[in-house]
Amino acid sequence: MDITLLEVLVKNVSKVSFARDIRPLFRSVDIEHMKGMEILLDDYKYMSDATNGYQNAQRVYDSLTGKTEPRMPPNGPYWSKDKLDLFENWVKGGCQP
Ligand code: HEM
Repeated sequence: MDITLLEVLVKNVSKVSFARDIRPLFRSVDIEHMKGMEILLDDYKYMSDATNGYQNAQRVYDSLTGKTEPRMPPNGPYWSKDKLDLFENWVKGGCQP
């Protein structure tokens, strides 16, 4: 997930908001299950942590696409491409609140 200036301009990536666009994509069952594993899907501070190139957000993204297994949420329903793209653009935009 590398960002280019062109992407910022074309996809308006800096306009994707965690509170408005990303947080509502997680169901309460997702949030509750992952909280038990210290993955805080509803916590902006956790999700936007810039350590190691936004490692927390990257791991969540990789679990959603199936790059890392098991793909999340286990046995689906898996996120549509539109939702995955939105999440990717949120990260590329610098994880805006
Ligand atoms: C860093 C990212 C993540 C990791 C490493 C991770 C890892 C795991 C693991 C190992 C389990 C137990 C699997 C099993 O019992 O088969 C699990 C359960 C679960 N995960 Fe994740 N997960 C991540 C992100 C997510 C995300 C983004 C979602 C939803 C959008 C999600 C939803 C769930 C749910 C609902 C369960 C419970 C399934 C059940 O017991 O029925 N997880 N996760």
